[in-house]
Amino acid sequence: PSPIRTICCIGAGYVGGPTMAVIADRCPGIQVTVVDLNAERIAAWNDPDLSRLPVYEPGLDAVVGRARGRNLHFTTEVDAAIAAADMVFLSVNTPTKTRGVGAGQASDLRWIEASARQVAASARGHTIVVEKSTLPVRTAETVKAILGAAQQNRPEGDRRQAKTFAVLSNPEFLAEGTAIGDLEAPDRVLIGGEDTAAIESLAGIYATWVPQDRILRTNLWSSELSKLTANAFLAQRISSINSIAALCEATGADVREVGRAIGTDSRIGAKFLQAGPGFGGSCFQKDILNLVYLCRHYGLDEEAGYWEQVVTLNTWQQDRIARMVVQRLFGTVTGKRLALLGFAFKADTNDTREAPAIRICQNLIEEGARLVIVDPKVSVSQIVTDLGQPPSDADGGWQAASSPLEAASGADAVLILTEWRDYATLDWGAIAAVMRRPAWLFDARAIADAAAARAAGLNVWRVGEG
Ligand code: NAI
Repeated sequence: PSPIRTICCIGAGYVGGPTMAVIADRCPGIQVTVVDLNAERIAAWNDPDLSRLPVYEPGLDAVVGRARGRNLHFTTEVDAAIAAADMVFLSVNTPTKTRGVGAGQASDLRWIEASARQVAASARGHTIVVEKSTLPVRTAETVKAILGAAQQNRPEGDRRQAKTFAVLSNPEFLAEGTAIGDLEAPDRVLIGGEDTAAIESLAGIYATWVPQDRILRTNLWSSELSKLTANAFLAQRISSINSIAALCEATGADVREVGRAIGTDSRIGAKFLQAGPGFGGSCFQKDILNLVYLCRHYGLDEEAGYWEQVVTLNTWQQDRIARMVVQRLFGTVTGKRLALLGFAFKADTNDTREAPAIRICQNLIEEGARLVIVDPKVSVSQIVTDLGQPPSDADGGWQAASSPLEAASGADAVLILTEWRDYATLDWGAIAAVMRRPAWLFDARAIADAAAARAAGLNVWRVGEG
């Protein structure tokens, strides 16, 4: 395999940015250029103040700080970066289609197709194209067809440089919030493809810091399907434990005790057994829906129904929490101040895509509550976008606060929706003192010090506690 000297990554998002930053950090001999159509995002990646990068991930600022300007570059000059690259990663968004055939389930591949066409047009010489985005199984066929149409195989003896391509699948398994650790010490790297030389070129990059036995090689279709399957299994565990949480609340069991008891079984394992307000993030729901769509496409209706239920249960869990809050607050929250702690879909990220907080807030707004939202990393403008309405102090409105104490001032209830570490050590004496009585703590993450909150005079509900 020929060594890779220049990489272009199309898509400077939550995956492209951190992934390329770690490759550049670990491989100083490779020039890595991350491109995006979004000029604002590129400007933020180039911001001299590393606390203003567009993606918040613990440790990302240090990695970018070491490599940026040396062999890590962010630019909107897409075509030039493709032309210069030995290897191009496609790391663009692949959301669920909102209209047309497969709307609500199938992945929208328009960004993948557009970037493949751009590679077809601008590449020079031999280019290895790597699918980094999560894609429906057999998408590589589409990518190959687009690239194939541009390929120029010159007859032997023709010395002008030919334009040729190899396509690989290399799905990303990082989790937001722990992306840098996941990239630096992955459980595995997965490379799917048919072209052995291309596979070994990509494996050679990872082998700089990943042990060989963690670099798995499969065929293209297994690689594409493995990513969808991994996310389906992970999301399925969350819906499973959330369904048990509801049963715990009804029966007097405690889901954390049940989780500990089953998690010690080595066949089950202890991770991903925390009950909560449901999964969020840009991937789980869209990838399961995509799997459901694929199952139906291949006539596998029972399988489709099985996986679809994972998403149904997730939405139900969010609605259940909002309903329970209303019910405990004497059946009405109209005009009541509710403090919402956490808006990101999980701790240690500023990402709010599909965050359970969005649906829970919308349900409470519908009931006429006055929400006061606080999150250490999510911007007010992002909340405006997600809730579809600007801040207001009217019934059925929301406002932002800068601290949990400020949010709780005059509130009837505090709801914890994201497991930010700081929420484990809140001063419940101080918070209770500024709330209206009778006051409630609804802890959808079971992270707060419930004993301290009760001692401060609050009524406490914790997810999964009977
Ligand atoms: P994102 O939306 O944060 O980033 C995608 C970027 O691609 C955007 O900035 C967009 O402007 C850019 N883009 C789209 N078309 C373009 C084009 N033709 N030329 C240049 N730039 C273009 O998405 P994110 O979260 O980084 O996800 C990317 C892919 O990785 C998705 O397929 C996702 O399913 C997958 N993935 C995401 C993970 C996550 O935790 N967010 C984890 C593993 C995989």
